[in-house]
Amino acid sequence: MDGAILELASLSVRFGGLQAVNNISLTVRPREVFGLLGPNGAGKTTLFNMIAGVVTPTSGVVKYKSEEIGWRSVCWRARAGIARTFQITQPFGAITVLENVIVGAMLKESRMSVIRREAEELLDYVGLSAKRDHLADALSTGQRKRLELARALAIKPDLLLMDEVTGGVDQPSIPGLIDLVASLKERGVTIVLVEHNMKVMAKLCDRMLFMNRGEMMVEGTPDHVLNHPNVARLYLGEDEQC
Ligand SMILES: Nc1ncnc2c1ncn2[C@@H]1O[C@H](COP(=O)(O)OP(=O)(O)OP(=O)(O)O)[C@@H](O)[C@H]1O
Ligand SMILES: [Mg+2]
Repeated sequence: MDGAILELASLSVRFGGLQAVNNISLTVRPREVFGLLGPNGAGKTTLFNMIAGVVTPTSGVVKYKSEEIGWRSVCWRARAGIARTFQITQPFGAITVLENVIVGAMLKESRMSVIRREAEELLDYVGLSAKRDHLADALSTGQRKRLELARALAIKPDLLLMDEVTGGVDQPSIPGLIDLVASLKERGVTIVLVEHNMKVMAKLCDRMLFMNRGEMMVEGTPDHVLNHPNVARLYLGEDEQC
């Protein structure tokens, strides 16, 4: 579709007997923050995995900047500007915080002096400069989320997939992380955001999709989606986190 950075058309994946994602179609436009919402097991992370190339769809199309990329490798997609952060953080624990970001930056840049400077700037941006020479294993969950963000930004992404930025993070660290996402939005980064915290979603997202059991349930503005009776019913018990 013209003007879309990401387009999913009738995307489905089945794991054995489980239809984890069923017939999802959506479009994300440049500079937009698009939210994915839904109960545990709705298929949000699986959708990210199909966009990033980790999981191969059973059927359907993934288009990035108007090109069908379903057959492209994870590495190609990262080089092309699709970056992600993980629900369960996955830093290289035995190397330093700075080296983790350097590894990300090496995908796009070969001059070591440039890579190092950019990595240091990114650590400053995410508020981790003081930890730069620490082993990544020594970081708290909130700090790991910040490191993931720096590592994802190091590839200079055009599309950033963020899976539960505040998930598992101690309460005092959450506002700072949300501010970081908001500042990325202001910088014009296109983001697909998975987050259980509805207040965060309402604040950050331009549009959102509520999924349940792999299916599209409600799509539209945060106001439309978050006030939809089906969303309230299916999310009952989970919005206590707000
Ligand atoms: N590689 C896999 N093999 C088999 N089943 C899988 C695989 N990945 C995910 N699933 C299943 O697919 C369904 C969707 O999982 P997914 O992780 O995408 O949900 P989610 O919306 O991200 O949930 P949560 O909010 O808990 O993170 C779940 O039932 C999950 O157990
Ligand atoms: Mg998930």
